[in-house]
Amino acid sequence: MNNLIAPSLLSADFGNLQADIEMINKSNADWFHVDVMDGVFVPNISFGFSIIKHIKKHAKKPLDVHLMITNPDRYIEEFVRAGADILTIHYEACNHLHRTLSMIRSLGTKAGVALNPHTPVSVLTDILAETDIVLLMSVNPGFGGQKFITNTYRKTQQLKEMIEREGTKTLIEIDGGVDDTNAKKISESGADVLVAGNFVFKAKSPTDAIDLIRN
Ligand code: DX5
Ligand code: ZN
Repeated sequence: MNNLIAPSLLSADFGNLQADIEMINKSNADWFHVDVMDGVFVPNISFGFSIIKHIKKHAKKPLDVHLMITNPDRYIEEFVRAGADILTIHYEACNHLHRTLSMIRSLGTKAGVALNPHTPVSVLTDILAETDIVLLMSVNPGFGGQKFITNTYRKTQQLKEMIEREGTKTLIEIDGGVDDTNAKKISESGADVLVAGNFVFKAKSPTDAIDLIRN
C-alpha cells in the first residue's frame, strides 16, 4: 500500500502560496500539512488563522493542522472554524490530553497527538482509543530542512505494535527530515503518513518528489 503524503506548506513560497496550493491539488499528495508555531512552544513563529482560511479557500484536499503551541485548548474551536480537517496538538503542551482530544472530536475533526523526539510512545498507551493520528516528530520541532533522527524507526515500530495490541485504527504520521533516502524504511517501520517540506518544495519537480516518497 502507498503511504499518504502530506507536503508541509512551511517550505512553500509565501509570496505565491496559491501556486503551491494548486500544485499540491494537482499532484498525488493526499493532505496539506499546515505547521502553526507560536514562538513559545518552539523557537519560531509561522502563521495563524487568516492564512489558514486562505489556504482552505484554495485547497481541494484535507488540511492537516499541526499545532506547535502552548495552551492549545484555547484555540481549538478557531482552528476548526478556519478549516482544519485533522487537528494535532503536542503531548508536551497538554495537561489534560483526554479532554483536549475529546473536544477536537466533538467538533467533527480528526484528533492527533504529536510527540517530540525525546518523548516515548508508551505515554500514549491509555489514550490511543481517543487518538485518530499519532505524529512522531523526527526532528526537533520549529524549523523545516533539518536532519532526520534515526531513532524514529524504532519508535515507529514500537507504536505500530502498541496500536495492534490495543486494536485501534490510529494512523502513524512521521514529520521532519523525510526524503527519498529514508521514506521506504520509515514506511516499512509502520508509518502511514509522511510529511515532507524541504524535499518537496526545494525539488526541481515537486510533483515528482511527491511520487518518489509515495511509492
Ligand atoms: C517542523 C515541522 C515540519 C517541517 C517538515 O517543526 O513540524 O512539518 O516543516 O519539514 P522538512 O520536511 O523540511 O523537515
Ligand atoms: Zn509539522
